[in-house]
Amino acid sequence: VIEKIFAREIFDSRGNPTIEVDVRLSDGSFGRSAVPSGASRGDREAVELRDGGKRLGGKGVQKAVANVNGVIATALEGSEAFQQADIDQCLIELDGTDNKSKLGANAMLGVSMAIARASAASQGCPLYRYLGGVDLELPLPFFNIINGGVHADSGIDVQEFLITPLKRKSFRDGLEKVANIYHKLKDLLKEEGYETAVGDEGGFAPKLASTAEAIEFIIEAISMSGYKAGSEIGIALDPASSEFYDPKKASYHFEGKSLTSAELLDYYQDLIQKFPEIISIEDGFSEHDWEGFEAQTKAMGDKIQLIGDDIFVTNPAIFAEGIKKGIANSILIKLNQIGTVTETMETIKLARKAGYKTMISHRSGETVDSFIADFAVAMKAGQIKTGSFARGERIEKYNQFLRIEEELGEKAKLAEY
Ligand code: PGA
Ligand code: ZN
Repeated sequence: VIEKIFAREIFDSRGNPTIEVDVRLSDGSFGRSAVPSGASRGDREAVELRDGGKRLGGKGVQKAVANVNGVIATALEGSEAFQQADIDQCLIELDGTDNKSKLGANAMLGVSMAIARASAASQGCPLYRYLGGVDLELPLPFFNIINGGVHADSGIDVQEFLITPLKRKSFRDGLEKVANIYHKLKDLLKEEGYETAVGDEGGFAPKLASTAEAIEFIIEAISMSGYKAGSEIGIALDPASSEFYDPKKASYHFEGKSLTSAELLDYYQDLIQKFPEIISIEDGFSEHDWEGFEAQTKAMGDKIQLIGDDIFVTNPAIFAEGIKKGIANSILIKLNQIGTVTETMETIKLARKAGYKTMISHRSGETVDSFIADFAVAMKAGQIKTGSFARGERIEKYNQFLRIEEELGEKAKLAEY
């Protein structure tokens, strides 16, 4: 039984306030969780409640904290902790809005995750086992090694360049391969006189001229580390194109040019032809350009993975529309886009039914909470992206997989691409 729910305001990896929730059960078990925050957010994400006003640039979360310590604590204290679906349903009804704007999705998710953690502690098992039972799998990790877009001042329009160890003997083996490439890339950039400071997600943020130049650097780093780009190490992009789309003009402002949706599609077609090492593109088209996304899926969906992030916002209802229209073949999963653990699970189930792949994701503003690592294993999500080989809040998630792999031992199953 839930005895005490308590929230506080802490700071995230960008120095912005966020919410952390502590939950204690009547048997003394304890759970704590913290909520991340995005920069390139989808318009239809559940509402992240911020205080406004002058304090901390209006980004304070004291209202969300007060909602947890007031109305949410009053409603949930005394409830059965193990009934995650009932708890989340109660939160949804308490909020009563379509977009969680009354209580705040940040308040609700903090509570939802902390209760899951406390429940796992109460059952004496790790979070991944509490949420996933015995059928578990370690995901394929996608590492963000060059940052652009709104995550860095590199001037590169594509927000994320990622690499993934397609061939690996273990999770650790894959991690080691990527570590070698990350360090090699740093050397290469330095040799060429580029900055090796990192962006919000830990990838380098050099001022490169174009997307193609960034990819060439990455391929060079992969081969100089002794691996085959493409077959052994795949490359993925998240252009986060909603950030450079102008809905009024229906055009994309990309690499100094204004492109129509059709022209952008041509660009991507050429890009994957020039670089067959690219295996996945996320948000190639804007959340406000469903036709563009649909056309891309028709043209490229049988060749590579196409992920919807801003366009689906982990929302089962919006995603169902997208499935009907044949948009993308994979979905990015962010707990705070929808606001409860149970709804996130529903979206994953929907994806599975529709034959879409799922990639669990961190946000560009993170804390050291590694909830998503356990969650990815429990849900057998298949893939995860949670930053690079730098920044503690990113590395902590990858380290958690090492611990999980160690605990599972021989039974540790690895997801394949
Ligand atoms: P965000 O970016 O957390 O800043 O929204 C992540 C992404 O676009 O995948
Ligand atoms: Zn994205």
